[in-house]
Amino acid sequence: MKRTHHCAQLTKSDLGATISLAGWVDSVRDHGGIIFVDLRDRKGITQVKFGKNLQEQATQLKAESVIAITGLVELRPTEGINKNLPTGEIEIEATTLEVLNVSDTPPFPLDDAGGDKVNEDLRLTYRYLDLRRPKMRRNLQVRHKAAKSIRDYFDSQEFIEVETPALFKSTPEGAREYLVPSRIHAGQFYALSQSPQQFKQILMVAGVEKYFQIARCFRDEDLRADRQMEFTQVDVEASFVTREDIYALFEGMLKKLWKDVLGTDIQTPFQRMPFHDAMNRFGVDKPDLRFGMELHDFTETFRTSSFKVFASTATSGGAVKAFNAKGLADLTQGEIGKLEDIAKSLGAKGLAFIKVEGGEWKSPIVKFFSEAEKAALTAQLGITEGDMVFFAAAPWEKACAILGRIRLEAAQLLVKRGKLTIRHDDWKFLWVIDFPLMSYDEERGGFAATHHPFTAPVLEDTALLDSDPKKVRGQHYDVVLNGMELGGGSIRIHQPALQKKVFEDVLKIPADVVESRFGYMLKAFTYGAPPHGGIAFGLDRMCALLCGTTSIRDVIAFPKTQKGQDLMAQSPTPVTPKQLKELHIATVQPE
Ligand code: AMO
Ligand code: AMP
Repeated sequence: MKRTHHCAQLTKSDLGATISLAGWVDSVRDHGGIIFVDLRDRKGITQVKFGKNLQEQATQLKAESVIAITGLVELRPTEGINKNLPTGEIEIEATTLEVLNVSDTPPFPLDDAGGDKVNEDLRLTYRYLDLRRPKMRRNLQVRHKAAKSIRDYFDSQEFIEVETPALFKSTPEGAREYLVPSRIHAGQFYALSQSPQQFKQILMVAGVEKYFQIARCFRDEDLRADRQMEFTQVDVEASFVTREDIYALFEGMLKKLWKDVLGTDIQTPFQRMPFHDAMNRFGVDKPDLRFGMELHDFTETFRTSSFKVFASTATSGGAVKAFNAKGLADLTQGEIGKLEDIAKSLGAKGLAFIKVEGGEWKSPIVKFFSEAEKAALTAQLGITEGDMVFFAAAPWEKACAILGRIRLEAAQLLVKRGKLTIRHDDWKFLWVIDFPLMSYDEERGGFAATHHPFTAPVLEDTALLDSDPKKVRGQHYDVVLNGMELGGGSIRIHQPALQKKVFEDVLKIPADVVESRFGYMLKAFTYGAPPHGGIAFGLDRMCALLCGTTSIRDVIAFPKTQKGQDLMAQSPTPVTPKQLKELHIATVQPE
């Protein structure tokens, strides 16, 4: 309609041509009688010049109004050339101007820098304006390219995309579900699918062999920068595969994705790290390998220490761990206080530290340390002037988790001081493997599946399921990139008897509940279920990393806020009593 070119197209080779363009008024500049408009469409910007003939109309133009123009392509005077624009050498001498729609003044500037400064709630309320910003437009394009690259990849590997229902049934594992009342079946509910997990396994029983889907998933979770209530998975399942097949398949997918979207060659195969090492060295199951400051174990060093806090932890089966926040001795009292609060929120009793300043170890606890203890710390942690060493004494997993978090906080503080550089495009991929199949849930007093209850145990550990479930490793793997879990999956249990045993004997789900929730799946498995396995990647998270942003809201066209609201359309909302009645629902207001 109304245009012969887009706004990033015309160059010197079009000089003298009569053309038409349409788009938004990016800016208006009045140079005493001659009016310059930067005209913008989704491709870019072209400068349009309005002379005497259109002056009156052109002075009325407001930013973000929609116009169509015709005109002649002319060379800009040398001093007006803009090397940063593909159209920077030309401008259009307008002959006609049609205002297609007038815009109110936008509530915030629509350039990248201006928009970044405003409150995100305002951007989300006017998302259609926010999405006009070049950065957001680019993010949408990256997401499109990513999805296409992934579809092409799986197609080339002979996978087929199969859609599975969003309206599923309530199953008690995993995250909290969204329930959907049935009108036809009074008092009964669907649950929105948390992931296509069960359907994709059923598709393997159905003989599909190679399935993938770019699937919407729904989880009623506390929202964060990397979590939305509805998000998108690249969900995959294949039959007759081993873990090695899966590693190779997904390294291939990520290699192609990074090449297609960024033109970057990433190194494969990825590093692999057992869960235990990840926790022990980095204090987290998704380590950020872009910087060091690894955790070290000093349990043996302090077993007989005169510092009782450490000695008693060591002798009672706990761990004493420490890491060197290299160069962070200049932390303020306030900053240390904040770190202590974080440690305490994770269950720490304290956050002992040593500051190395003026050749001295400054710390309330160092007076308790023997020369041998100090020597061991210096040797393992490479302690020198200006360093800051943090300690945690607690049960092993807790000590790791506390210092893992403090390590990340310390890195941010070092970045802020210009003492550490962490680049978003320093791509440190890794597989985290050998997770325990089950972890003990203190609160509930029972075992819970580390990944989900369909994960197969490592073959040689299967016998331990009865005697010592804690020791059983799962055939589970996660892909981690720069401190973010990109994806996770496993080789599945495909034998009905073993699956039933895991539900009933290990997870202690009552037999009747197993039957009502998973009976259909156990039944399907009795009709020749092939060995199978798969994985799901968070598409939103991959796109965020590809775009160099830390928030997945930046790569979702219409995300919800941290409080689960859509500020533009304004949801959730109350509904009418009639609607509720139809659904056989009565609501109770919280006190
Ligand atoms: P899992 O629960 O680990 O596995 O999810 C897989 C990946 O999905 C992404 N993800 C999320 N992204 C944004 N917001 C959320 N709320 C959110 N929750 C998860 C993460 C995560 O790594 N069915 C299994 C996969 C399998 O076993 O094949 C599953 O859903 O990137
Ligand atoms: P206290 O003897 O309780 O005064 O502790 C001395 C120092 O050790 C303080 O800086 C505490 O924060 C720290 N601390 C106490 N308990 C622990 C612990 N379990 N792990 C690490 N540091 C601790």
